[in-house]
Amino acid sequence: MLDATRLRTPCLFDKIVSADEAATLITDGMNVDVSGFTPSGYPKKTTLALAKAIKAGKKCRINIWSGASVGPEIEEALAEVGGISGRMPYYAASNKTLSRQINTGSVTYIDQHLSHFAQQIDYGFYGDVDVAIVEAAAINADGSIVLGSGVGNTPMLVKHAKKIIVEVNTSIPLTLEGMHDIYICSKPPERTEIPIYHVGDRIGSPYVSCGLDRITCIVESDIVDHVRNLSAPDEASKKIAANLVDFLEHEQRHGRLPQQMLPLQSGVGSIANAVLMGLAESKFDNLTMYSEILQDSVFKLIKCGKVTQASGCAFTPSPTVWEMYKENPELYRNRIVLRPLDISNNPEVIRRLGVISMNTPLEFDIYGQANSTHVMGNRMMNGIGGSGDYMRNGYLTIFSTPSTAKGGNISSVVPMVSHADHTEHDTMIFITEQGVADIRGLSPLKRAKLIIEKCAHPDFREQLYDYLKMAQRKNGHEPVDLEHAFDMHIALEKTGTMKEQSKEEEHYDYTRRFTA
Ligand code: COA
Repeated sequence: MLDATRLRTPCLFDKIVSADEAATLITDGMNVDVSGFTPSGYPKKTTLALAKAIKAGKKCRINIWSGASVGPEIEEALAEVGGISGRMPYYAASNKTLSRQINTGSVTYIDQHLSHFAQQIDYGFYGDVDVAIVEAAAINADGSIVLGSGVGNTPMLVKHAKKIIVEVNTSIPLTLEGMHDIYICSKPPERTEIPIYHVGDRIGSPYVSCGLDRITCIVESDIVDHVRNLSAPDEASKKIAANLVDFLEHEQRHGRLPQQMLPLQSGVGSIANAVLMGLAESKFDNLTMYSEILQDSVFKLIKCGKVTQASGCAFTPSPTVWEMYKENPELYRNRIVLRPLDISNNPEVIRRLGVISMNTPLEFDIYGQANSTHVMGNRMMNGIGGSGDYMRNGYLTIFSTPSTAKGGNISSVVPMVSHADHTEHDTMIFITEQGVADIRGLSPLKRAKLIIEKCAHPDFREQLYDYLKMAQRKNGHEPVDLEHAFDMHIALEKTGTMKEQSKEEEHYDYTRRFTA
């Protein structure tokens, strides 16, 4: 029940409406912005009510803008009733209906570097923000908003929204208040430096600025974030983590990394979470994180004293880790700063702090290009997210992934990526459970040999060397054999030999491998 701890001035109570009533503010063709980042801090009630109205006959297809992917109460509920026409700037394959609609073209999706989106809204590149739906822990007497665990692009979208629906969620612990540091960059030519010099620096306000008169209505909610549990670390992830620790120690021994480790960034997913957790066993202490998303491992590393300060634009604790948070909220509030996405992922700050960027690709090629997003070049898995923001600007950029996927049937190292998200100009280190390929300062052929030798699974190395020999027959600075590159990509199966296949056979192999 909403009370004065959540609505901090009496006039706010007059704005309370039902979710059904709030949903009537949303009409066909609107650009609707939702708060949050991944399944963290996103609104739930109004979009569920809108989906119900569409199912009952309301004609309404909208563009959904957000920080990143959000939970099923938005992406699944609205996709199932055909309520989404466009999506920016990120989505994740875990929302299956939306994934299908994006991959069959019935929903348009624009995949963007996440640091770009807020400023491009500010520049007016995409038109009006018709409605913003913001999930909040509380609203202050001046209308400013206390967010929950996800900041994402909310401050910028609130700045621009014509109408604002605030879902005040009583399940959000008020102990989160004070964790946020909200700062909005001014536009060029007035923009100045972002004055963050250390991971924990606070440069803004704990609240999202929003006058009382700008809040159109308030909806009460108590639905909890839909965070999935991450898989426990498997053997491959443990070896990757051990390889990462060896590599970082090696860099320190050679004076290329300071003894006080530079801030770390860690990407999304089970592998990234497991790899970061591997640092718990390392000799590194006083670690800091300047990252986009803070997953379970960060909380565990804070609890065991390894991480002393962490900055992100959201955290997504699994139900178990939420319980851990609730046992000692002060510990985490003192160590975590939640910032807007365009600050957490800002190239200027990433470069200044010397962030060590660690992300997971789907596949990478022998010359060092990485594909984070498209399975076999076609099917969108997850968006590029912040990986480009960090991998272009990190002090060190590390891509880590198991050397194979789908039970060992697919090689993660390929002759040529089927979709290039990160070019060879941005990548530096590749780590699999097989080893570490440090391609800094290496010419293309040296890169190729090292990546095959150190990162490819032994079952696929011979095929990759065969391809390299074929490519070298074409000469050139970075030799590619276009004819064979993609045949080979498709044929990289655990047969040990390269297949000469007809187009029909290739198609057969493709569908067999991805429907198994
Ligand atoms: N070919 C085909 N499928 C592949 C693959 C490959 N080379 N590599 C992985 N996959 C599939 C897995 O089989 C799994 O599929 P399933 O869900 O059907 O089982 C899926 O991709 C996810 O892989 P998983 O092993 O569970 O790893 P993960 O949870 O660590 O996620 C990524 C890995 C690549 C999907 C994830 O890290 C990602 O989205 N990265 C891109 C965005 C990014 O880097 N964001 C960071 C922001 S700072």
